[in-house]
Amino acid sequence: MKYGYFDDKNREYIINNPRTPWPWINYLGNEDFFSLISNSAGGYSFYKDAKFRRITRYRYNNVPMDSGGKYFYINDGESIWSPGWKPCKTELDSYECRHGINYTIIKGEKNGITARVLYFVPLKTWAEVQKLTLTNNSKKVIKLKVFSFTEWCLWNAASDMENFQRNFSTGEVEIEGSVIYHKTEYKERRDHYAYYSVNVPIQGYDTDRESFFGLYNGFDEPQVVAEGKPKNTEAHGWSPIASHFIEVELKPGESKDFIFVLGYVENKEDEKWESKNVINKKKAKETIAKFNTSAKVEAALADLRKYWDNLLSIYTVDSGDDRIDRMVNIWNQYQCMITFCFSRSASFFESGIGRGMGFRDSNQDLTGFVHQIPERARERIIDIASTQFPDGGCYHQYQPLNKRGNNDIGGGFNDDPLWLILGSVSYIKETGDFGILNEKVPFDNDVSVARSLFDHLTVSFDHVVNNLGPHGLPLIGRADWNDCLNLNCFSNDPDESFQTTENKTEGSKAESVMIAGLFVVYGRDYVELCKRLGKDAEAARAQKHVDTMVDVIKKYGWDGEWFIRAYDYYGRKIGSNDNEEAKIFIESQGWCTMAGIGKEEGLCTKALNAVKERLDSKYGIVLNNPAFTRYYIEYGEISSYPAGYKENAGVFCHNNPWIMIGETVVGNGDRAWDYYKKICPSYLEEISDLHKTEPYVYAQMVAGKDAFKPGEAKNSWLTGTASWNFYAVTQYMLGIRPEYDGLLIDPCIPTDWKGFKATRKFRGATYQIEVVNPDQKSKGIKEVTIDGMPYKSNLIPAFGDGKEHKVKVVIG
Ligand code: GLC
Ligand code: GLC
Repeated sequence: MKYGYFDDKNREYIINNPRTPWPWINYLGNEDFFSLISNSAGGYSFYKDAKFRRITRYRYNNVPMDSGGKYFYINDGESIWSPGWKPCKTELDSYECRHGINYTIIKGEKNGITARVLYFVPLKTWAEVQKLTLTNNSKKVIKLKVFSFTEWCLWNAASDMENFQRNFSTGEVEIEGSVIYHKTEYKERRDHYAYYSVNVPIQGYDTDRESFFGLYNGFDEPQVVAEGKPKNTEAHGWSPIASHFIEVELKPGESKDFIFVLGYVENKEDEKWESKNVINKKKAKETIAKFNTSAKVEAALADLRKYWDNLLSIYTVDSGDDRIDRMVNIWNQYQCMITFCFSRSASFFESGIGRGMGFRDSNQDLTGFVHQIPERARERIIDIASTQFPDGGCYHQYQPLNKRGNNDIGGGFNDDPLWLILGSVSYIKETGDFGILNEKVPFDNDVSVARSLFDHLTVSFDHVVNNLGPHGLPLIGRADWNDCLNLNCFSNDPDESFQTTENKTEGSKAESVMIAGLFVVYGRDYVELCKRLGKDAEAARAQKHVDTMVDVIKKYGWDGEWFIRAYDYYGRKIGSNDNEEAKIFIESQGWCTMAGIGKEEGLCTKALNAVKERLDSKYGIVLNNPAFTRYYIEYGEISSYPAGYKENAGVFCHNNPWIMIGETVVGNGDRAWDYYKKICPSYLEEISDLHKTEPYVYAQMVAGKDAFKPGEAKNSWLTGTASWNFYAVTQYMLGIRPEYDGLLIDPCIPTDWKGFKATRKFRGATYQIEVVNPDQKSKGIKEVTIDGMPYKSNLIPAFGDGKEHKVKVVIG
């Protein structure tokens, strides 16, 4: 069953049934101020860091699900309703939610009134703007009582949820005119406050939650709304909220706009106060003034659209299949921006307090984003590298607010360093900016030990070389990309986290074949970089290590039909036919085939066939097979999950594209695209009841074939799946790939495709690409022309001349 439909022209997903199988959300803002918003206006806002600067409160895992948000209540004398159906849940005469690119429009109709709310964060603005439009569609004059609502969070989202003995006494607000200010802790150590305004005179307000709702009422039945009368309360402690009360009269056919601004301000120490205990409101008023008319708001929305027109014009495809085009051209790219902004921090599955920016995650995320805004990717690379240790090791995560490594989340994941090579190389190939390698970058944020980014790549490479195990394969450390393959934890205490418990690497023989494959792929990239910088001796040194690793993988990483996954603490195989459970894993098949290890001898084809046979399922490729059915203390968290979920034989979508790329290495376009479609959200729209999460974005995991409900997705939005799918489909399957010396066009498509068209803006030129496939092949180049002239190669030069060039490629 479907709950809506795509509007590709407007780049929107239009939900027309509010009872979606799970809240379907959107993100507002793309730089500093952010909001999450569901299809019924649930969600919250924060500034930069969802943990330390949470502006409005949200209760995860609540009953009912998705309670709390940016609500409007309308009392029309007959009924009390909300434009988004929730929280009142009064049946609406019509409902629609349009999730667009960084904006959401929710529209409800009841008793002759339409209430439409546009929510967005204007560019370069520390505020969310909400434009409420009320229209009287009836033939009589209608009087309405309208209440806005949002609930303040006491800034630190973690302590906000637990330290009630303090929290219930600290809340403070100020009310001036139509603006409600939240200033808890501003008196002491904070330099920031929040506010919620409306651009018309109000007839009342409330800021004390208990007075607004009544102590025993839910979001669906605020007492004040039912009584049609605000209490004009000023919160002192307990739970401060912000609610405006507006009386509205509408003639038949009349429409009125009300503009609300929910903002955040920081003031310098000596500019904090207007007078004793009265906050300095200057900046808030400036922002409010910027959006105090409908024309200004519409202009700001038009700017936001223009901004995205530009970002989404850099790579577009016309494949002849809408479901592919809308993902590649719109939603997958949008999701890449969102994962770039948030790593794994704030979604409806990630609470915004558990995790910051991941070293590994953010490097991968920026790979799907770098073509959009390379400067931001550049800055991110430097931020990430600044948290690295001098020996190449890393904090697993850092906090976005202070950009410092965060030890609470653990460390010692031995794949981490290599992803910095991926991030840096992706950036340089997109931009040609080798200069980034000369940037001085601190270690562990200590500027006194800053070295060039290139040196950071060297220590990243060497971190593997310096940490090899008994077979010459990389030691795994706490885990590799698979956070849950914890071969050195031996945890038997349910109260400790696998991610942070003691990492018993002393004397361990635990090695990772996946890191070995990763090392070959990014080690080669490192060698190539060295050569381009004229560092031939270093290139030769590194090449030797890479060559040795290839041999070691063939010798100790091959199981006969596929690549084994790892060796455990005691040096025993994992992911081998000899194992009772989990005989085969996806990660090593992905990385070793991407590296083309043993391609000539047929190892890649064999491994990929084994994936097809053992790991493929109706809903995607599962991570391992057979699933673990009991807890193995020597494997850790992976065997803690019930069979078919998460890292234990779930379809962990993040790694499916590795196999798709692997298939392109051996030229199997039919299979690569078959895998692509299985996890592609727009292909799953019809089975939304089962799939559950949004049909416009990827989820981290879909329950695998061993699960209770195969096909059910979880953890949508914040997943490396976004960037990896974009990377796989655009660079390897459509095959338009930035290289140091130009744009390589090397598609691998299904044999029944006649071709496709694409546009790529690249280093200051625009390429209009046409690929034709007269011989029904998947891969191979028969002919190339540029601007009508035959060209010798499929590596198209970076013209950088600001012009448009027509490139035609014939597959054969
Ligand atoms: C999560 C983590 C990512 C990890 C993956 C597999 O997505 O964010 O870092 O690689 O799980 O465990
Ligand atoms: C759990 C999850 C994994 C995630 C990790 C982050 O291990 O299974 O996906 O990366 O937590 O802490």
